[in-house]
Amino acid sequence: MIDPVHRDSNAIQFTALDAPAAEQDGPAGGHAPSPVGPLSSGRLAALYAYPESRGPWMRVNFITSVDGAVAVDGRSGGLGGPGDRRVFGLLRSLADVIVVGAGTVRAENYGGARIPAEDRRRRVAAGRPEIPRIAVVSASARIDPSHRVFHDTAVAPLLLVSADAEAARVRTLAGTGAEIVTLPDVADIAPILADRGLTRILCEGGPNLTGRLLAAGAVDELCLTVAPVLIGGNAPRMAVGPASTPAPLTRRHLLAGDDGALFTRWTVAQGRDER
Ligand SMILES: NC(=O)c1ccc[n+]([C@@H]2O[C@H](COP(=O)([O-])OP(=O)(O)OC[C@H]3O[C@@H](n4cnc5c(N)ncnc54)[C@H](OP(=O)(O)O)[C@@H]3O)[C@@H](O)[C@H]2O)c1
Repeated sequence: MIDPVHRDSNAIQFTALDAPAAEQDGPAGGHAPSPVGPLSSGRLAALYAYPESRGPWMRVNFITSVDGAVAVDGRSGGLGGPGDRRVFGLLRSLADVIVVGAGTVRAENYGGARIPAEDRRRRVAAGRPEIPRIAVVSASARIDPSHRVFHDTAVAPLLLVSADAEAARVRTLAGTGAEIVTLPDVADIAPILADRGLTRILCEGGPNLTGRLLAAGAVDELCLTVAPVLIGGNAPRMAVGPASTPAPLTRRHLLAGDDGALFTRWTVAQGRDER
């Protein structure tokens, strides 16, 4: 018997339980039942397409257990299944840049993004960067210069670091080839990236960075995988911070994977239209 966790992610079938009507389904803009049966890869990619927004778009992607845990023993790997691997890879292939907190880089031993050759060709043809850079957000610049995020990557990362980080640490990290940018506030992440032409932003967490982004009103969208498992324990939720910062959401789609996971996409109602 095939271990369900190790199933080929390309073999996972996704069914739309609620999704915008495809052009052939009916009038644009409405929600309609998708055709019965699994979604094609093209339709799946279309459901996750970035909006044709003129400015930067901050998409946050997370996986949680049904009881809201974002990690098992400090890492998210214990939650992921083949459907999540597929969506995780798809979201990376659609993004110009991947923003991630230094806590996650350290916990998950991040390296550079790997994008399949066919997707790289498609990206270049569309005038996008061939491979999305990793942009690490750190207050202290307390990251080991030998960390794989600096070395196991095809493109040098960006390091978005607060102004009061120790200068000697920042100089050491600049020596790895990373591009260092001073970050006045997390609300400045999207404008800083947009200045570099990187408008399709994918934030991969973690909870502290996401909590700060949420509090700053800097999140446009959430893609959330709900893994078919209960974890218990004391793992954090996907956004944490000193105070509650409610942000009403609009559901954009709900998909079921045949590995048991649910795949949801939500936009934050903060006056920015999805065009
Ligand atoms: N399930 C999922 O999808 C998922 C996704 C991501 C992460 N995770 C889990 O989440 C955990 C890690 O998350 P985390 O919340 O500890 O860390 P995090 O959100 O990834 O990173 C937080 C970091 O942001 C930096 N920071 C804080 N305030 C800042 C400011 N004002 N300006 C610039 N940078 C600032 C700090 O970096 P410095 O410490 O370097 O100063 C801080 O450590 C791990 O267990 C990981 O497995 C799960």
